Amino acid sequence: MKKLHYITVFYCPSLEGERYRIVASPRISIQRVVAFSAILGLVLSLILSISGISSAKVTGQCSNCHTMHNSQGGSEMATYGGTSGENPCLTRGDCVGCHAYNRTGSLKVVDIGGSKIPQVWHNAGTDLAAGNFKYADGAGYGKGHNVIDFFGANSDSVLDGPPGPVKQFEHGELIVNDSNLTCAGDNGCHGHRFYGKPTLGSGIPALKGAHHGNVDGKCDTADSVANSYRFLLGVRGLENTTDKWQNINASSHNEYYGTTTPPALGCGGGEEKHCHGAGGVRPPNDSISGFCGTCHGNFHGLTGGSGEGTSDGIGIGGSTSSPFKRHPTDLLIKNNGEYAFGNRTYNPQAPVGRTSVPDSVIPGATANDVVTCLSCHAAHASNLPDMLKWDYDDMVAGGGSNTTGCFTCHTEKDT
Ligand code: HEC
Ligand code: HEC
Ligand code: HEC
Ligand code: HEC
Ligand code: HEC
Repeated sequence: MKKLHYITVFYCPSLEGERYRIVASPRISIQRVVAFSAILGLVLSLILSISGISSAKVTGQCSNCHTMHNSQGGSEMATYGGTSGENPCLTRGDCVGCHAYNRTGSLKVVDIGGSKIPQVWHNAGTDLAAGNFKYADGAGYGKGHNVIDFFGANSDSVLDGPPGPVKQFEHGELIVNDSNLTCAGDNGCHGHRFYGKPTLGSGIPALKGAHHGNVDGKCDTADSVANSYRFLLGVRGLENTTDKWQNINASSHNEYYGTTTPPALGCGGGEEKHCHGAGGVRPPNDSISGFCGTCHGNFHGLTGGSGEGTSDGIGIGGSTSSPFKRHPTDLLIKNNGEYAFGNRTYNPQAPVGRTSVPDSVIPGATANDVVTCLSCHAAHASNLPDMLKWDYDDMVAGGGSNTTGCFTCHTEKDT
């Protein structure tokens, strides 16, 4: 009888250089797996239809996005965005070929034969929620993430590795830096990162299956790339389905997931949490700030007490109580004083996260709001130094009534 070998991946923090142990188990027969999968599929489709989770799998003619031989009449077909050469999964461009299809064009969502593709570099008047990589071009390197896909290696003349990295073996500046930071995969943000051994590498192989399986709207499971928020493995959130990929106003925006206590990052066990989970590197707490913390660990976590992990990293301080040592994230905005939700409004320029992923967009401030990295920063790039969403120079204490930026939460520091 044919046997299926299923693979279990264990994370072994103690094994330096040998992070994953692959164990093949021949115990389950293929028939039982097929029967089980069929039942699981039925149950899942019922759950999906009941809870209204919408699927936004890519649509349109195959030829909008794929080429079978990269040849038509002898000419190349895989030329999207000015790229050339064959791509994995036979796509007509790589990530930037499709998502920076026409950099000088005025469309932030490009439509190819009815297939809509969100653009991360374009010349439209307004940007999608993550910003626009064009701002990080040339002298603007400090305004964004210098991904090699656009800028090549070593394009940030000031920063090399991510400021605030977790300091532990194999980490620090050596792992991810401006010479290898890329869209997806091992040294990227989207898809599987350092998954298995050998890993899936970078680019399309690290995302394979995500586009045709994309779950739109509420992404609360986040156990696959396809059902995670924006293909960020393990990140929960609500994707705006009214104005896709955009934060327009208080009633049309993405909802970010946040927690009330950030983890202490490290490898020491106990209270300390590491970022190597099912599917590869992922935030141990499923939050968007925790995601940023997978590279900028000490800007996110609580100061660790022991272990090889965080003893030389400071974090935001030892607890969730003021005074802090770095601006907190994944912290509940307390419901009193200037922070009381009655004093705040939802501001898409300084968006708060929520402690649970809502079914639909919440237009106002609530008692369950959380500070996130994205309350202040864009994810890709912004038109302002340090990738901020608003001009830090305009944040003047006692400078007159102001409800933007810092004052969205620090509502009494303006006057
Ligand atoms: C709007 C763009 C788009 C269209 C239209 C599209 N695809 Fe894809 N497809 C992709 C992208 C991007 C990938 C690679 C990344 C991924 O898998 O997430 C992919 C991957 C695949 C894969 C490998 C991964 C998987 O999900 O199985 C297959 C097979 C595939 N496409 C078949 C098709 C077929 C057949 C059609 C037409 C019926 C089609 N695609 C139409 C964008 C598209
Ligand atoms: C052949 C064109 C094509 C390629 C290549 C491609 N994409 Fe996409 N991508 C699309 C389309 C079309 C959508 C919109 C899907 C939808 O409507 O939900 C999309 C959506 C996305 C989204 C948003 C998902 C969401 O939650 O709405 C992300 C993130 C993304 N792609 C990342 C990538 C990365 C990273 C790569 C390279 C590894 C890549 N894409 C390669 C066509 C492409
Ligand atoms: C895969 C690793 C990685 C992740 C995840 C990551 N970053 Fe970074 N980040 C870097 C690296 C590397 C640099 C330094 C090189 C550069 O500027 O691109 C950097 C630089 C920055 C900078 C400074 C930009 C400059 O040039 O001055 C900011 C701000 C920033 N990141 C914010 C974030 C936020 C917010 C998130 C989460 C949405 C995040 N990062 C997630 C790797 C990462
Ligand atoms: C999304 C809401 C939000 C935004 C935007 C925000 N903060 Fe905060 N900030 C908080 C919260 C919540 C705390 C923690 C307060 C507490 O629990 O005592 C905090 C703490 C602080 C502290 C430390 C106070 C202490 O007791 O240790 C300073 C200083 C500060 N913020 C300054 C700023 C500045 C400057 C900006 C703009 C650059 C800003 N904040 C933007 C929510 C925000
Ligand atoms: C309250 C607003 C606010 C929040 C929340 C916030 N940042 Fe920042 N960030 C700033 C400001 C302002 C700067 C400019 C430098 C400074 O003031 O330390 C900055 C600078 C940075 C830099 C550049 C540091 C350098 O050396 O150039 C990085 C990287 C960064 N932030 C990452 C993050 C990450 C990751 C998170 C979430 C864990 C986060 N920030 C949360 C406001 C914020």
